[in-house]
Amino acid sequence: MLKKTTAGTAMKRKYPEAIAWATCADENGAPNAIALGWSMCTSNEPPMLAISIGHTRYSHELIEESGEFVLVFPSEKMVDATMVVGTKSGRHGDKMEEAGVTLLPGTVVDAPLVDDACANFECKVAGALKTGDHTIFAGEVVAAHVGPEDARRIYIPGGNRQFSPVEPV
Ligand SMILES: Cc1cc2nc3c(=O)[nH]c(=O)nc-3n(C[C@H](O)[C@H](O)[C@H](O)COP(=O)(O)O)c2cc1C
Repeated sequence: MLKKTTAGTAMKRKYPEAIAWATCADENGAPNAIALGWSMCTSNEPPMLAISIGHTRYSHELIEESGEFVLVFPSEKMVDATMVVGTKSGRHGDKMEEAGVTLLPGTVVDAPLVDDACANFECKVAGALKTGDHTIFAGEVVAAHVGPEDARRIYIPGGNRQFSPVEPV
């Protein structure tokens, strides 16, 4: 039996949600990262990924200007770091040191890689679509990197932003 409700209430049924980050860099190469619940694969050939970023985010500005980002699948060791990059804005100062992760240079793009993450995908923006208060940036994967074989991804089990590492299936 179905009950009509608001989109917001129905949306709570989408959890658990896999968490990603997008890293980016400013014109001087200073790094930033944003935590993302909203990311997806969009094409096999060429490999493409999409992320949805709020218009007010500093990362929105940097990705729009640079046309590049790295989509990162953080590991279970990056729960605290995810709270840092997901609650503080790079517009108000460098949060990457507080996040305490090791950044490595991208091999194709200027946005950094995150060491020990489950996976990193270097992307060049192939298209952008404004959708309400977010923009979907579709990125073509120009290089990919994997971390330790046993690194597990993190998920939020509900809308309360608490994380739980889940075994890979
Ligand atoms: C678990 C989690 C998921 C999030 N998902 C998104 C998302 O999909 N899109 C988005 O624009 N912001 C999302 N946010 C919020 C941004 O990560 C947050 O506003 C961040 O501080 C923006 O940083 P910036 O201003 O340096 O870009 C999420 C935050 C958390 C903690």
